[in-house]
Amino acid sequence: MQQDRIRWNQKYTDETHPINPSRIVQDFYNLAPKGRVLDIAAGNGRNALFLAKNGFYVDAVDISDMGFNRVSKHHINLNLICADLDNFDIPKDRYSLIVNCRFLERRLFPFMQEGLVSGGLLIFETYLEPFGKKIEEPSRRKHLLKKNELLHAFLPLQILLYRETRESDEKGSEYMASLVGMKNG
Ligand SMILES: C[S@@+](CC[C@H](N)C(=O)[O-])C[C@H]1O[C@@H](n2cnc3c(N)ncnc32)[C@H](O)[C@@H]1O
Repeated sequence: MQQDRIRWNQKYTDETHPINPSRIVQDFYNLAPKGRVLDIAAGNGRNALFLAKNGFYVDAVDISDMGFNRVSKHHINLNLICADLDNFDIPKDRYSLIVNCRFLERRLFPFMQEGLVSGGLLIFETYLEPFGKKIEEPSRRKHLLKKNELLHAFLPLQILLYRETRESDEKGSEYMASLVGMKNG
């Protein structure tokens, strides 16, 4: 959506965002067979660049081109795709690894599973509704997983990790769900 592009371009202009790869990506990427990666909503490319440097060929998709400006654009293994994931098609049986961090588009769930090759890995981590609270505003619910939702959505995969956590610091609390799954057969 055009509004998302404008909003996120503004955020990447005004704010700083983490540049180190996600912990969960660093911990699990090497369970994936070498090949192509899809980084969904790649942001500033922190995970995409890490994976490109580790020998994967990475399709990094995001609606914001300003995010991509924040990382080295020119790694030979990095293919930056500026696209709206509301209308994006994931090719079947293409990816050894699909990464989805801090982004939620439920429409993509079945296509992510189909997009993995046999033996391919999914690493998915994003925001969760606060424990014991039901969020009413539709605009917030759209971006927050419900309890166990991620686990149920990806049960056809072999689940190697699933957890729901609360992380707190001086700015407040963040609730996250994390899943690592492998496609068998
Ligand atoms: C919180 S950031 C996460 C970025 C990255 N995955 C990370 O963990 O650093 C969310 C990202 O989703 C992207 N985004 C939001 N709506 C989008 C859409 N409709 N299509 C593609 N990307 C979108 C934003 O541009 C932003 O880079």
